[in-house]
Amino acid sequence: MQTKRGLGLFKEPLVVELVDSTQNRVKEPDFPFFVPLVARAQTAGRGRLGRRWYSPPGKGLYLSVKFPKGFFPEGDLGCLSLVVGLSVSRTVDAYALSGIKWPNDVYLRGKKVAGILTEVSGPSVVVGIGVNLNEERFPPELAPLATSIYRETQQRVDPDEFLELLLENLSEDLRRFREEGFKPFVEPINRKLVWKGRRVLVDNERGRLLGVNSKGWIVLRTCYGKVKEFPAGEVSLRADRI
Ligand code: ATP
Ligand code: BTN
Repeated sequence: MQTKRGLGLFKEPLVVELVDSTQNRVKEPDFPFFVPLVARAQTAGRGRLGRRWYSPPGKGLYLSVKFPKGFFPEGDLGCLSLVVGLSVSRTVDAYALSGIKWPNDVYLRGKKVAGILTEVSGPSVVVGIGVNLNEERFPPELAPLATSIYRETQQRVDPDEFLELLLENLSEDLRRFREEGFKPFVEPINRKLVWKGRRVLVDNERGRLLGVNSKGWIVLRTCYGKVKEFPAGEVSLRADRI
């Protein structure tokens, strides 16, 4: 598939029917850099910290792409998921206005519509993206958290059209990230940040969400008025329902 403006950074995508996880296939040493691998379904799609990613056939977009580690500025590699999240969110915006939920999710009307997984594997960085496009419903355990573009807009999304637009946005953002680092992304990410100004929980810490800083860390003002910053690592950000 050739996009109007060309594929940018990317080579022609490889589309397959079924894989365990596109992350695993792309990590194989002879899988080429810059070739997006798209699967119509995954049997073992996964998220951060080994969690499962629901990947039913023909409903969502499941894709992974591998880059040489040195392609991105080393000190900013921890911000890659946020930059990719911005590209995904900008793409979802063509259908309905979305937000970025730090550090690796895209939200639509309060629920998760996409997730990003970046993994370092030897000399490579593998970026995985899962987007819920046309799911009519989700399994009961996911239903309160997950949504699809179709559920929010009642409009079917053409997966090839979405992919074309996504690769265009990704190419633009990743080129900029390579050349200029994370700095130019801080403001656009903060503008799209979900729960900004609201009470949240990070690990056991309660506070008001101030935003994302120039290192991609989340910044809270705790109830004692202290400003605290947390790196993405293994911490989770939750809305404080209390
Ligand atoms: P964190 O804030 O730590 O990232 P998270 O709950 O978003 O927390 P992730 O590891 O980012 O966790 O994402 C995996 C989680 O996403 C799963 O545990 C499940 O709750 C949810 N999930 C799985 N498949 C889907 C899907 N197709 N759409 C939306 N959410 C999903
Ligand atoms: C998350 O929210 O934790 C990230 C989810 C990432 C899911 C995508 S789907 C394509 C790629 N293959 C996988 O097994 N995971 C990613």
